[in-house]
Amino acid sequence: MHPKNNFRYGNEEILGKVSKKTLAWYAAGAIATLNFMPNKHFYHIGFGQDDLGSLPPSIALLSGDPERSRLIAQTYLQDVRLLSENRGLNSYLGFLPNGRPILSATSGMGAPSLSIVVNELVQVGIEQIIRIGTCGSIQPHIAVGSVVISNAALCRQGAANDIAPVEYPAAADPFLTVALVKAAQELKVDYHLGITASVDTFYEGQERTDSANPNLMRSLRGITEEYRQLNILNYEMECGTLFKMSGVYNFAAAAICGVIAGRIVSENIILEQRDKAVKNAIAIAVHAAAIFESAN
Ligand code: URA
Repeated sequence: MHPKNNFRYGNEEILGKVSKKTLAWYAAGAIATLNFMPNKHFYHIGFGQDDLGSLPPSIALLSGDPERSRLIAQTYLQDVRLLSENRGLNSYLGFLPNGRPILSATSGMGAPSLSIVVNELVQVGIEQIIRIGTCGSIQPHIAVGSVVISNAALCRQGAANDIAPVEYPAAADPFLTVALVKAAQELKVDYHLGITASVDTFYEGQERTDSANPNLMRSLRGITEEYRQLNILNYEMECGTLFKMSGVYNFAAAAICGVIAGRIVSENIILEQRDKAVKNAIAIAVHAAAIFESAN
């Protein structure tokens, strides 16, 4: 969007043209802010409930990468307002094409960072979270450039053990997940639905040996083949903890990841396919949020 369309609300930059409907929404929020207690800005995400106006969003799109959060806000949402860029945890408030408010937020890399952001998002009132990430396929039929929708995770993540027992299920919300599947079908994107392995490390835990540590621990050697035989589709680093948190903190979570590595043939990220995979994952998630919001 062109910078000349930007304006400010309080001290915040607003990206893009603002409709009359949204101006009324901001005005209502401003009045609400005047009438209530001083806003509590959460330490990590850098904004609070009162920054979300009088009709706050209940749904958030959550990316690991702040640039992805910005891309989603600028390209797919309307009447966007920057909430915070604290610690690279960029958050934007915007609107879906159907007029419903939505957050585009950043989890950072890995489960410890995600757990902090999700905890604070729940405290500001978010009730549904769709993770939009990237992953490596460990099944030969899942091509780089396609997307994986996770219905559950094998959660090999330390952060999750501070939230629930290791045996606690890491399950996605069925309704939000069906919305992702419907959106993928409507957008005619090649998708795969199944179980994801969420681990804490990109190199060692995903059995990459072409790195600073070629001598993996015995417990990790052969683990990708073992997971493949267990019908696990892909590796990524966040959704197991997100799913466990959703069960314990009582919100709905779903996850979609663009496939950017084909681990059956290579350890490498395939850059040429990355943009397509990520773009498809974003488009599906935004459409799924609209489907879910219209049904609820
Ligand atoms: N993210 C991961 O965690 N692993 C991959 O292979 C690609 C993206």
